[in-house]
Amino acid sequence: MKNTARTPFIAGNWKLNGGIKTVSSFKQGLLLPSHAEVVICPPSLYIHHFTTDTFGLGIQNISEFDSGAHTGELSASMAKECGCQYAIIGHSERREKFDETDIIVGKKVKASLDAGIRPILCLGEPLIIRERGKELDYIEQQLDIVLSILGPQIFKDVVIAYEPIWAIGTGVTASPKEAQTVHASIRAQLASIDSNAANDVRIIYGGSVNATNAREIFAEQDIDGGLVGGASLHADQFQLICNQIPQ
Ligand code: PGA
Repeated sequence: MKNTARTPFIAGNWKLNGGIKTVSSFKQGLLLPSHAEVVICPPSLYIHHFTTDTFGLGIQNISEFDSGAHTGELSASMAKECGCQYAIIGHSERREKFDETDIIVGKKVKASLDAGIRPILCLGEPLIIRERGKELDYIEQQLDIVLSILGPQIFKDVVIAYEPIWAIGTGVTASPKEAQTVHASIRAQLASIDSNAANDVRIIYGGSVNATNAREIFAEQDIDGGLVGGASLHADQFQLICNQIPQ
């Protein structure tokens, strides 16, 4: 049975895409389900173009630092001041292309919570790990580092996104059952330390979610929504995905 006390959560991650026209189409066109929380994460320069009560706003990355000589960085407190409620942290593209280690990810989760921004903490295994059947161990280790830095209590304010790297932007999704297995394992890992945290935390799936596969994925017991990349760039597609969230 799905736990209906957890409000479903859908976030659109535009990555390095979109522009003023995309912003306009989202401001005009979305009719969002009232039983779900929907968050758009545009490139940071466009965040101030959104002043809307219909959906939340997230930043795609934050600095581990709050201020100082860190040219080009943005802090969680700045994101907060500019209207964001969420920050995507530890996306595999940041881990792979910008050398973000689990320790840095942990520090960013802390910086985010300190500023009153809720982290969307991304975890996910590369293809080679999946092929070796070691994905559960891999994810457990990624989560363990954050747990060791911050403890389980913080997870009431965190959304965890399971994003298998081999499914991101590839058109290949994890099957609903494959994703459910990992989500259940993440919840069990938290439950072994704090059953309330495990019950409350929303664990969403990301990796080639689209209007065709969303319903089946979202129906799984431990899948509380999605982190959507490519399909979140078109308001009509994103709308269709939001419509698949179970009541
Ligand atoms: P995708 O991206 O939906 O384009 O696969 C998901 C993500 O990276 O968050």
